[in-house]
Amino acid sequence: MKELGWRAAFLSPGDDLRYVAGFTPTPDERPAYLVVTAERAGFLLPALNRAQAETETDLPIVSYGDDEAPAGALRRLCAELGVDASGVFGVGDTTRADFLLLLQSVLPEAQWQPASLAVAPLRMVKDAEEIARLERVARVTDRVVEAGLGALSPGRTEREVAHAIRDAFLREGAEEILFLGVASGPNTAFPHHHTSDRRLEAGDAVWLDIGCRIDGYASDITRMAIVGPGPDGYAEIHAIVARAVEAAFQAARPGAPLAEVDRAARRVIEEAGYGEAFVHRTGHGLGLSGHELPSVHGKNETPIEPGMVFTIEPGVYLPGRFGVRIEDVAVVGPDGARRLSRLSRDAFRVPASPGGSEAARAGRRL
Ligand code: CO
Ligand code: CO
Repeated sequence: MKELGWRAAFLSPGDDLRYVAGFTPTPDERPAYLVVTAERAGFLLPALNRAQAETETDLPIVSYGDDEAPAGALRRLCAELGVDASGVFGVGDTTRADFLLLLQSVLPEAQWQPASLAVAPLRMVKDAEEIARLERVARVTDRVVEAGLGALSPGRTEREVAHAIRDAFLREGAEEILFLGVASGPNTAFPHHHTSDRRLEAGDAVWLDIGCRIDGYASDITRMAIVGPGPDGYAEIHAIVARAVEAAFQAARPGAPLAEVDRAARRVIEEAGYGEAFVHRTGHGLGLSGHELPSVHGKNETPIEPGMVFTIEPGVYLPGRFGVRIEDVAVVGPDGARRLSRLSRDAFRVPASPGGSEAARAGRRL
């Protein structure tokens, strides 16, 4: 903040606040901020959340009732912290627009910058405790992927599979489900397909892209399956994407630019002739948020550092036919990246006829 010349930063409930304060108040339409200056910090909170916050923090809290305008309380807090209207301030990137409008009305002379300028560089590099939590949630999510793959069967809908995955997440203690994507057949060609009522059938490709939060930290993984033989040409595309994932992992070394990870994956797919079918970046940071910085794309020249954690998830999408994405989480250490998931990246094979599936499934482990 000093380097950026900020007078103060305002963080509303969310992952930035959780990162700096160790907890986050309940988010709703009632304005709430942690205000941080060079010397001091304090909370503005709705009165009903005050007692709960006092169990989590020793910082001063200014609160307001549901029948009070929060602007008065915000002015009192700013006065207490020595914050006046002039200068440059940070405001959380995911702050609600009405919360920002309130800040602008109380501090009309202020200039505003996204708080990620200060917070993201801190959040991007994880310490050992954060990595341990990411490992724990990844381990749980591996088991949920196995449950999801086991729930695949011709005749079942994507939504029915999604419900089985949701149940597995809850059984395994997920605090929050962040991603629950099930795509089958031609739907797999849409990178962000919304789980539908389409029924699985022989010849389908299927992807599961799922993640949850445990102990505050997020998981994110994508695995492929095929029903019966899968679609024509499936094995070739799967092998290309799997090679792209491996190339990206090899490129994820301290000192190299993040762009090199993207280029390594893209090179494999381009050389195979499918460059135009890889329509997104290679990955994104993972931590408290399911998507956070750094963004792993071809123009991000930020050097990779030990402690960075990001996904590697190249894909090839062939509209009208099928798509393949394989996603793993890379944790960068001093000598390179390791992955969190222990699951095979091979396509899981689902028997084409539902009748034979139980016996076949029983003998098959990833
Ligand atoms: Co994902
Ligand atoms: Co992802």
